[in-house]
Amino acid sequence: MLAFVLVSGSLWILLELSSTLMEKMQAQEMISGLRIPEMDDISQFFLSLPTSTLVGIGALTAVLTYWLATRPRPIKPPCSLQHQSEEHEGGGRRSMMGDRTKLLTHYHDDATTMYEVFQRGLRISGDGPCLGSRLPNQPYKWISYKEVMARAEHLGSGLLHQGCKPNPNQFIGVFAQNRPEWIISELACYTYSMVVVPLYDTLGPDAIRFIINTADISTVICDKVEKAQVLLENVERKETPGLKRIILMDAFDSALEERGRSCNIHVQAIQEVECRSSPCRNPKGVMLSHGNVIADFAGFLKVTDVSDPLSLSTGSFYCFHPAVVYCHGGRIGFYQGDIRLLPDDMKALRPTIFPVVPRLLNRMYDKIFSQANSQWKRWLLNFAAKRKGAEVSCGVIRNDSIWDKIFFSRIQNSLGGRLRMIITGAAPTSPSVLGFLRAALGCQVYEAYGQTECTAGCTYTTPGDWTTGHVGAPLPCNLIKLVDVPEKNYFASKGEGEVCVKGPNVFKGYLKDPERTAETLDPDGWLHTGDIGKWLPNGTLKIIDRKKHIFKLAQGEYISPEKIENIYIRSEPVAQLYVHGDSLQSCLVGIVVPDPEVMPEWAKKKGILGTYKDLCKNTELKKAIIDDLVRLGKASGLHSFEQVKNIYIHSEMFSIENGLLTPTLKAKRPELKEYFKDKIEQLYSSISM
Ligand SMILES: *[C@@H]1O[C@H](CO)[C@@H](O)[C@H](O)[C@H]1NC(C)=O
Ligand SMILES: *[C@@H]1O[C@H](CO)[C@@H](O)[C@H](O)[C@H]1NC(C)=O
Repeated sequence: MLAFVLVSGSLWILLELSSTLMEKMQAQEMISGLRIPEMDDISQFFLSLPTSTLVGIGALTAVLTYWLATRPRPIKPPCSLQHQSEEHEGGGRRSMMGDRTKLLTHYHDDATTMYEVFQRGLRISGDGPCLGSRLPNQPYKWISYKEVMARAEHLGSGLLHQGCKPNPNQFIGVFAQNRPEWIISELACYTYSMVVVPLYDTLGPDAIRFIINTADISTVICDKVEKAQVLLENVERKETPGLKRIILMDAFDSALEERGRSCNIHVQAIQEVECRSSPCRNPKGVMLSHGNVIADFAGFLKVTDVSDPLSLSTGSFYCFHPAVVYCHGGRIGFYQGDIRLLPDDMKALRPTIFPVVPRLLNRMYDKIFSQANSQWKRWLLNFAAKRKGAEVSCGVIRNDSIWDKIFFSRIQNSLGGRLRMIITGAAPTSPSVLGFLRAALGCQVYEAYGQTECTAGCTYTTPGDWTTGHVGAPLPCNLIKLVDVPEKNYFASKGEGEVCVKGPNVFKGYLKDPERTAETLDPDGWLHTGDIGKWLPNGTLKIIDRKKHIFKLAQGEYISPEKIENIYIRSEPVAQLYVHGDSLQSCLVGIVVPDPEVMPEWAKKKGILGTYKDLCKNTELKKAIIDDLVRLGKASGLHSFEQVKNIYIHSEMFSIENGLLTPTLKAKRPELKEYFKDKIEQLYSSISM
C-alpha cells in the first residue's frame, strides 16, 4: 500500500448507467420494496381483537404501516459482517461469497473475453450510448456501442494492414490521457488479439523509451501533437530504432508529418487508419490477457450485486477498469482532462458511480467544512453528520433524511445529484473523512486494496460494513494468505505477514524480465505484494507495514519506517512524508510535505496564519504538525523510539518528475535520502544541541 497520495493522473472516469440498466434496477427495487412477509400475520392478529381496541390500534397501525413502508432499510450484507472471510484448505483465506470449491473466473457466461463483454453491452443497451466526452461548456457527446465496435474493428484491421500481427506477442503503445479513442484503441487490440501497452507522461522519457524497446513496439497511438514530438525526439536520437508508426488522435499539421518522414516514421491520423481498411475477419481467438481483467471485475460484481441491485457497475481502484460498465450496457463519460473543471463535468454528466483517489475525498471534505464559515454552522454540520453517522453505523445509507433535506442535498447536488457509489483506493483514506462522506453524500463509499499485478483489486469493502481501518475482505476471484516475515517479527501463525495473492486476476509476469518475475511471483502462483497485512477477527484485512526497508537505530531497535509513515499519513495537514533514521543515530527525523489544500485552513484553526509558502517556514506550524504526528503515533501504539524527534517542512510534493517517486508512486527511499541529505544533517544537529 502506498504511503503517498496518488496525484490525480489520467484515471478519472465518470460513469453513468444506461437507462435500460436503470429500469432493470428500478424493477428490482420495487420487488424488494414489497417484501414485508409478516404483514399477513399482523392483520390476522388484529382481526382477532375486540373492536374497541381496534379503533385505538387502527391509528397506531396506520403509523406503523407507514413507518414499515418508509423506514430506512439497512443494506443487507451478503455475508455476516463478523465473518467476512474463511480459511481455504489449500492455504490462505477466501471470500464468503461465490462457489466455495473454486475461484471466480468470470461473472456472466456470455462475457468471458473483453470482446464478448462489449457485445453483451451492445445487446443489453440496445445499442445505447457508450463513450462520452465534452468540450468546455457543452453537453456530453456520446458514441454508441455499435459505433465504438465498428471504429475498433476498422482501427484494428488498419493496424493489421500495416503489418501488425494478430497475436498476443504484438504490442501496441497507447500514449494518451483517458478519452474515447483510448478505449477504441484498446478494444481494437483486444478484437485482434493484440496487447495494449499504456504509456504515461508521468513515466518520464527514459521509462517510455525502455518500454518501447523492451516490448518491440513499432506502433504508438498518441492523443496530442506534443506526445508525438516526444517520440520523434527519441527516434531522431536513434534511441528507439524499432518505432515505425505514430497514429494521432488530435489534428496535426504537415510539418509534423514531414518531421516524421525525415526520420522514417509514418505519422498518420487515427481516422485515416480507420478509413483505409475494410474490417478483417475477426479471429476472436485466445485472448489470454483478458482473463485477468474479467476475473477481477467478476470478483467485484460478485461482492456488490448481492447487496444492492442498484450498484451493479464499475470496478476499480486505482486503475479503474471500465469493463464492468460495458458488460451491463452502461455508459462512461470522460472528464475534460482538467481537474479544475471536474465539478462542472460532474454537473453535466451526473454520474452514478465515481471512482476517486483519497486526495479528492480529502479535498471535498475540506471544501464542505470551509464553506461552513461560522462557528454555529460548523457545529450544526458536525451535529448533522453525527446523527447521520449513527444511521450509517447501523448499515443505513440514504439521502432522504431530514439532515439531507436541510444540509447535505446541496453537496449531493453539486456532485450531479445521482451518485450511488464512490470507490476509492491507491492510498489509505483517513477514517474521519471516510465516515463523514458516507454520512454527508448519502451514497455507498467503498475502499479497495490491490496493485497492478493483480489487476487493480484483491480486497474490497463488504457492502454493509461501513466501519473504517481495514481494506475489506478478499474478492471472490482470489485467495489471500499471509507469509512469515521473521526479520520483521511478523508471523502467519499470529495472523500477520506479507500479503500474497493467488487467483485468475494475478498477472503472468513482467515482460522479458524473468528475474523480477521470479522475485514477485512464486512457483505456486502466489503474488508477493511486499505489504504486511494483519487479519482482523471479523475476517477483514488491515495493511500495517511494508516488508522492505528496515533498519536498526544506534541503540539496536529495529525500525520499519513505512509502518510509521502509514500511521503519520493520517495527520490532516500532511500530504506526503518520509521518515528517516539509520544505525548511526538514536532517533528518527522526518521530511513532511503539507497538503496545500488542507494545511492553511488547519493552521488557521490553530491561530497560525499565512500563505502556504510562509506557513511552510513557520516554526509554530512545524511544532503543531510534530505534535499531531506524535499524538497519532501514540494512539497507534508506536514506541517512543519509533516517533520522529524533529521534522523539516518541504513545500514541494515528491513526484515522478522530480525523481522522488517511482512510476507506481512509491517513495524512492534512497533518492529521498540523498535529496534531503543536508536537511537531515541539520535536523540531527538541531536535536543534539
Ligand atoms: C438519492 O439516492 C437515490 C437512490 O440511490 C438516487 O436515485 C438519487 O438520485 C439520490 N439523490 C441525490 C440528490 O443524490
Ligand atoms: C471488524 O473488526 C475491526 C477490528 O476489530 C473493527 O474495527 C470493525 O469495526 C469490525 N467490523 C465490523 C463490521 O464489525
